[in-house]
Amino acid sequence: MYRTHNNGALRAEHINETVTLAGWVQKSRDKGFMIWVDLRDRYGITQLIFDEERTPKEVMDLAKTLGREFVIQVTGKVIERESKNAKMATGDVELLVEKLEVLNQAKTPPFTIEDTTDGGEDLRMKYRYLDIRRNPVKEKLIFRHKVSIAVRNYLSEQGFIEVETPYLIKSTPEGARDFVVPSRMNEGQFYALPQSPQTFKQLLMVGGMDKYFQIVKCFRDEDLRADRQPEFTQIDCEMAFVEQEDILNIFEGLTKHLLKEVVGFEIENFPRMTYDEAMAKYGNDKPDIRFGMEFGELNAVAQHKDFKVFNSAELVVGIAVPGGAGYTRKEIDKLIDWVKRPQVGALGMVYVKCNEDGSFKSSVDKFYDQEDLAKWAEATGAKPGDLICVLSGESFKTRTQLSALRMELGNQMGLRKSDEFAPLWVVDFPLLEWDEETERYHAMHHPFTSPKPGQLELLDTNPGAVKANAYDLVLNGNEIGGGSIRIHDKETQSKMFDYLGFTKEEAQAQFGFLMDAFQYGAPPHGGLAFGLDRLVAILGGQETIRDFIAFPKNNAGRDVMIDAPAKIDEAQLKELNLKVTL
Ligand code: AMO
Repeated sequence: MYRTHNNGALRAEHINETVTLAGWVQKSRDKGFMIWVDLRDRYGITQLIFDEERTPKEVMDLAKTLGREFVIQVTGKVIERESKNAKMATGDVELLVEKLEVLNQAKTPPFTIEDTTDGGEDLRMKYRYLDIRRNPVKEKLIFRHKVSIAVRNYLSEQGFIEVETPYLIKSTPEGARDFVVPSRMNEGQFYALPQSPQTFKQLLMVGGMDKYFQIVKCFRDEDLRADRQPEFTQIDCEMAFVEQEDILNIFEGLTKHLLKEVVGFEIENFPRMTYDEAMAKYGNDKPDIRFGMEFGELNAVAQHKDFKVFNSAELVVGIAVPGGAGYTRKEIDKLIDWVKRPQVGALGMVYVKCNEDGSFKSSVDKFYDQEDLAKWAEATGAKPGDLICVLSGESFKTRTQLSALRMELGNQMGLRKSDEFAPLWVVDFPLLEWDEETERYHAMHHPFTSPKPGQLELLDTNPGAVKANAYDLVLNGNEIGGGSIRIHDKETQSKMFDYLGFTKEEAQAQFGFLMDAFQYGAPPHGGLAFGLDRLVAILGGQETIRDFIAFPKNNAGRDVMIDAPAKIDEAQLKELNLKVTL
């Protein structure tokens, strides 16, 4: 037996017991006649003591050779510590070592393996296995495990069956590029790694599985951000014989359950907001509703004077920043610079200080009088002491810019508290989205999403206005999940492919299997997928998902530890009938 206890287990009640421990040397202090070693494993740290008087000489000598991260096994007697350490779970005791075995030596690690380390991001990624020994990383992985288990238990109790679907498939369009895998046995042909198991879960519904879920890897070749990885994990779900309401209720239940079980947070309100309302109030389809600063549209009260910038704008819109009237000129200029950064892209910002005495001072006093500005205050809900920030221009762009400012201010003002959770559903998404680049409509969610009842006809006359039975779950300003009620008849699905610009032949070649299946008794069905990495990160109070993934990719999509992607050798290329021309 390698160990009788782990390194987090020993307490005063174990005093005088002889135990065997194993683990890594966190650090060692050699006073000559006495050596203390902190022994670490997943469970904690136990202090070992080697003492010239009580420890055999050969053990003492060996102890002097121990370096950081050596893997050792020790046997000894648990004794009471002279100076107790209340901060450590095992701080009442130490182990007086009688036997020591070095199980493996270790090179000096490239960074310190402690809660705060001297290792930079790149170095820690290269030696991720060492980083995982550190508490902050280890705890995030354990936290992820807790969330996954809670999800599995909850869904299983609700009657969902976990079914695995294949990874070597044919492309499923979910808006990103596919990662492809060449087939050796089928020359010139490729599998695609799934962007999601979308079509398979729909086929499981045709197969009568009724309630399916899977915690599953998905692969998308897209640009990386803090909340995106090329391979990530979904909690993928699908149900048959359900309406949107049933799905929202089940997954509202799951979200509440997770918040309660995993972070001890009870949710009372679980609002639903239409996409249009979210865009109008927050300029964003994933609003953070933990704080106010809702948008106030000002067209009606700002376009009647001689101010050309506003008069020529499609939208004039503002937010009230609580307490912002106290900002200095310098602070306001900083905000203006911030919205003018290329990443945000506003041309400028108009502001109004709402003084405590009820008067206003604005950057456009030349054009607007106190009465006008009072109307702006009313429209944005600004109170004396607030600052109104106003942007104008093309509607969608301006909303997006003001939303970025709102989130930035939320961060700056500490309104986005990591231990507060505010989930909501955003519903009634548009079915289609105009793509400037290809100059055509794309499915906003995916091509299998059904339009709202009675709206199919609108596709011919006003496609942009068609709403879908599609919904997103939003938590603290992040899109945690999304789904829809699906099309389940061949005719509608085929019509949808037409609208999306597929020829009949393309649609048949790519999705014939699905449309065929719809002809053999496909039940009405719908579902959704949560992004597990995002969910875990946000429950853990953070927005960067990389920290919650054991072996993540860096911003360039590389695994710097194993050095992937990498070239393959000529023989392998030949076998796959591939030629690389670079
Ligand atoms: P969607 O594309 O909205 O829907 O994805 C579902 C959820 O997965 C997460 N997500 C990601 N997380 C990390 N890195 C990524 N690159 C990434 N891309 C997406 C998000 C998102 O909300 N098949 C549909 C679901 C359905 O209709 O049932 C789908 O995949 O949290």
